[in-house]
Amino acid sequence: MIIAPSILTADFCELGKVLDEAVDAGINWFHLDVMDGNWVTNKTITVGPAVIKSIRKRFGTKVFMDCHLMITNAEKTWQQYVDAGVDLVIAHVEAVSDFSKLCDSLHSANVQAGLVFNPATSVNEVLPHLNKLDLVLVMSVVPGKGGQSFMPEVEEKIRILRSAIDEQISEGGIKTRIMIDGGIKAHNIAMVKEWGVEVAVVGSGLINNNASISENLAEIELALK
Ligand code: DX5
Ligand code: ZN
Repeated sequence: MIIAPSILTADFCELGKVLDEAVDAGINWFHLDVMDGNWVTNKTITVGPAVIKSIRKRFGTKVFMDCHLMITNAEKTWQQYVDAGVDLVIAHVEAVSDFSKLCDSLHSANVQAGLVFNPATSVNEVLPHLNKLDLVLVMSVVPGKGGQSFMPEVEEKIRILRSAIDEQISEGGIKTRIMIDGGIKAHNIAMVKEWGVEVAVVGSGLINNNASISENLAEIELALK
């Protein structure tokens, strides 16, 4: 299981130090939440291309970076995030009109293509795109802010995706990874791993005022043993 920290609960004045601490603790994937203050109800405009570029500069190729675009115009603006240095662009299926075309554009730009879908969106909206996706992200909270409670009803969607992807792989197709985002902590991470999740976004479970990142990560790793 890969742990991808979301940095929304970090002290942004201390961001460099927080990320150093994460990398020192063994993290090699950052999940960068991009909100435009419009598509998601939370009006906070957070991480954007400038921040992503600085993170890439600080860590070079030591880390893999995805951007989770909670924005209205991903189809028009994805190139900025690629230029800033992300390895994977994840766009919301609810906000994109031609997902197949977006995947092709991302692949032509030599980055991975990811699709994310909301708790209210059916898995049937996702299945037709699987054969072009490097990753599918299941939202286990309504997107918009960190620190919300996990929605266990996503289990069925994940199990459906797991079997569809296993079938796709057995037929020689693309090895689409399953990622989960929202409310993942030490107490539920082993459960989602058993459902078939391979990458877990962890925000407030990793970056909080109760313990250090390395202590939180150690607890998560213990839960996964
Ligand atoms: C929610 C974001 C998440 C969030 C995760 O809109 O996409 O990445 O920050 O934070 P936690 O783990 O605290 O739910
Ligand atoms: Zn996210």
